[in-house]
Amino acid sequence: MRSFIIGGAGFVGSHLTDLLVSRGPVTLYDNLTVGKREFVARHLETGAATLVQADALDLDALEAAMAGHDVVFHLAANPEARWGLERPRLDLEQGTIATWNAMEAARRNGVTRFVFSSSGTVYGDVSDPRGEGDLGSLPISLYGASKLAGEALLSAYSECFGLRCTICRFGNVVGPRGTHGAILDFCNKLRAHPDHLDVLGDGRQAKPYLHVTDCAAGLLFVLDHAPGSLAIYNLAPPDTTSVRRIAELCVAASPHKSARIEYGGGAQGWPGDVPQSRLLPDKLAALGFRVRHSSDRAVELAVAEIAREVFGA
Ligand SMILES: NC(=O)c1ccc[n+]([C@@H]2O[C@H](COP(=O)([O-])OP(=O)(O)OC[C@H]3O[C@@H](n4cnc5c(N)ncnc54)[C@H](O)[C@@H]3O)[C@@H](O)[C@H]2O)c1
Repeated sequence: MRSFIIGGAGFVGSHLTDLLVSRGPVTLYDNLTVGKREFVARHLETGAATLVQADALDLDALEAAMAGHDVVFHLAANPEARWGLERPRLDLEQGTIATWNAMEAARRNGVTRFVFSSSGTVYGDVSDPRGEGDLGSLPISLYGASKLAGEALLSAYSECFGLRCTICRFGNVVGPRGTHGAILDFCNKLRAHPDHLDVLGDGRQAKPYLHVTDCAAGLLFVLDHAPGSLAIYNLAPPDTTSVRRIAELCVAASPHKSARIEYGGGAQGWPGDVPQSRLLPDKLAALGFRVRHSSDRAVELAVAEIAREVFGA
């Protein structure tokens, strides 16, 4: 199996690469704006993976690099949902257009298998648990809107061109080699200002946190088991963890244990942030896949892993 990962040198992509290399050659297509060569260095050194440093917005380069591959994982995206507030075109380009390019390059190359990293943000601002068929409300961030647009494009490509597509709606992914997210953000803030930790919102925001090893394993599982021409799965634990809990764990794992936690207030971290979200994992469980770690456990593991990366052993 020849695998092609767009965004393969990033956080999730590098962990997916760790698993995929045992199945055959892996090409990592990444502009390295966020991803790092060091995340995948050992696979580059052994020759199990190859890095193509190029942009998903360059359709010609993407089409050329994708030739000869059997399966495409599309993981590249704007890494921070709130960046869309400062740059409203960002998600249109890095989300929607990059996803169209990825599918179009796959179509031109005759690739038949495509896996897309979507997000629970497609469900919008709803606090009750959401299953895959529950698109009752619409996304409230430009990031979420671009993910939903990407899903719609996959649906159309699967129908019109016979591309077999699988969509995974992730919870918040956490773990080592993180490039963004609350845990890394809190640890970096504590390193810069050891006496206090500023937290956006009132700390009661609660979301499902998915350990990155579960995320990578889930992506491989759907590749092997998702039926039909288009399948959609939530990929998340059933429980949630509060931002307050994450902040407290980060302070406790840092060398700055007496740092004050200061909450900005308000239910949302920023406009577009979904304060409470819960994803039902039942559909993927019925197919045979369950995450190993609950949300609380994934956060505990990730805080320890990221604190080691930021503060040292
Ligand atoms: N991490 C999470 O909590 C989370 C949650 C839900 C969904 N997702 C989705 O999962 C995917 C992977 O997320 P991640 O956390 O690994 O992010 P990441 O930023 O670490 O990885 C994305 C990679 O894509 C690369 N990239 C970005 N734009 C590119 C472009 N135009 N051309 C080529 N390469 C480009 C980056 O350099 C990076 O290596 C993303 O699509 C993200 O939206 C992530």
